[in-house]
Amino acid sequence: MVNRKKDSPDASLSFMRNGITIFAIESSCDETSASVCRDGIILSNYTANQTVHENYGGVVPELASRAHMQNIVPVVDKALSTSNCHLSQIDAIAFTQAPGLIGSLLVGAQFAKSLALALNKPLIAVHHMQAHVLANLISDPKPKFPFLCLTVSGGHTQIVVAYSPTNLKVLGETIDDAAGESFDKSAKILGLPYPGGPLIDKYAQKGNPHAFKFAEPQIDELDFSFSGLKTSILYFLQKEIKQNPEFVLENLQDICASIQFTIINILLKKIRKAALQTGITNICIAGGVSANSSLRKDFKEMGKKNNWNTFIPDFEYCTDNAAMIAITGHFKYLAGEFSDLSVSANARAAWE
Ligand code: KG4
Ligand code: ZN
Repeated sequence: MVNRKKDSPDASLSFMRNGITIFAIESSCDETSASVCRDGIILSNYTANQTVHENYGGVVPELASRAHMQNIVPVVDKALSTSNCHLSQIDAIAFTQAPGLIGSLLVGAQFAKSLALALNKPLIAVHHMQAHVLANLISDPKPKFPFLCLTVSGGHTQIVVAYSPTNLKVLGETIDDAAGESFDKSAKILGLPYPGGPLIDKYAQKGNPHAFKFAEPQIDELDFSFSGLKTSILYFLQKEIKQNPEFVLENLQDICASIQFTIINILLKKIRKAALQTGITNICIAGGVSANSSLRKDFKEMGKKNNWNTFIPDFEYCTDNAAMIAITGHFKYLAGEFSDLSVSANARAAWE
């Protein structure tokens, strides 16, 4: 790396030029986000959320890509200005290549590729699920390798073992709905707007988690299934509403607490099983659902009981954000994992 300290007239800017500076873009779903990371330290992480989907019960792909196109330039500007970083100081551009909504991914991918071409800087394609796991390497204390990670998002539920930042293996995953989807679909049945996860979390705080019982799936090994739970909730509510049309209104907090309790129970049982099977005691959670207040609390308690070292990303690094793309870009830069400009966005790419 060239040390350009002497060339710069501005002492604060020259400080920025000593290390590896990664500029990152995330646009896989409904958040447009940009981040600057220098030597593994996040200097900025700016995200524009899309509220346009609230009334549709889920993300509308066409509306999401349009919103990304509107948001991307202001988001990039904001991430650069808050980091005090100039485009000329960037060593590489990282972006979310996969998986996600293709129209959404394309906006970020094309922007990142154009920037790399214009600045003549290397490009780093990042897998979104790897980035969720590595969000645990942003803040201190950080997990030592190998560690396990339960990644719970709107599109995925996985148990991953990380041997190094660039050597990760999926041990188990959902065979149907993801945990976040389960929160969102349950919320939709209850008449709550999208995304329902944070609302269920909010109402559950004042409810009784044992008020109602829902069936738990019996799935082999370290895989998950959540589609049966959704059906069980739907049939339960249909039956109750027939007898009392005000049932949801009168019992919303208890219903939310019971749904949340069931989902968390399914998740924690599996991570415990993975810990027992692998003997790994550094355990993380990640992804949007790891923002859930009960999951965070129960996971920490389970860790204490089992003598694990537990890790949870800071709240802002749980849901989709570009800081996790930037930190992954940092480690891929160190490993020399670059992409050429022919790389394209991919809605479904599995892990390498
Ligand atoms: O990781 P993420 O931002 O996007 C994907 O990669 O899918 O995760 C979004 C998911 C949504 O399903 C949302 O409802 C859920 O995370 N989520 C929550 C909470 N905050 C976000 N679920 C439960 N409790 C929360 N506090
Ligand atoms: Zn995500």
